[in-house]
Amino acid sequence: MSDKHQTKSKYTSDRQIPGAFEGETVTRRRFMTTTTHVAGAVAASAFLLPALGFALGPVFEQHIEKWQDIGAEGDFGADDYTPKTIQVTDGIGEAGRGTAYVRKYNPQVDSQPIDEYNHYIAISSSCMHLGCPVQYVPAAERFICPCHGGVYNVEGKVAGGPPVRPLDRYYTRVRHGRVQLGPKYSVNSNLDKFSPRDPGEPLDGIGQFLYPSRPTLRKDPNQSNQ
Ligand code: FES
Repeated sequence: MSDKHQTKSKYTSDRQIPGAFEGETVTRRRFMTTTTHVAGAVAASAFLLPALGFALGPVFEQHIEKWQDIGAEGDFGADDYTPKTIQVTDGIGEAGRGTAYVRKYNPQVDSQPIDEYNHYIAISSSCMHLGCPVQYVPAAERFICPCHGGVYNVEGKVAGGPPVRPLDRYYTRVRHGRVQLGPKYSVNSNLDKFSPRDPGEPLDGIGQFLYPSRPTLRKDPNQSNQ
């Protein structure tokens, strides 16, 4: 066999590499280069993977789209809210639960006309500043956020603090004397309905165009499971 076709030895010392150790198969230069590349890739992944997960995760969230039974009609008064534990996100157990404050439509309080889906008013407890859970304080007739002092009136409209829009709401309906809670929707300061938005996204003025709804969030209660 000619020299041209002879296979190279795997040992660096046989290949006459200066400074080679006996039994060494990888040059120190190559070893250092490869190690540096691997370390660089690990460091880049440590930044990039969490950022990608944070950006893309919400697209794959499974929000509840079916109607949930939340109690008999008689369970809810028109003058006070009843907190109800509801399933907000599917597939993550207890962590997917949240609270909705529910009361009967009250023409003395509610500025929106009554329709098929608001005989019972159901308000989300998620603050529209950064999403902390708000609490309804009956004596003050206010929803109060403990995080940064957000205050909402009895309809869930912003009465003070940093929240950028009223509290989100849920469609409701009555079937066989039972109140059912459907998909969530967002509202602007006039309580006009919008498809659900995330906390911190205003819906008045140009905000309604700057913050489109995520595609995974359902817009119309008639599209939900019956
Ligand atoms: S999260 Fe409610 S005021 Fe900031």
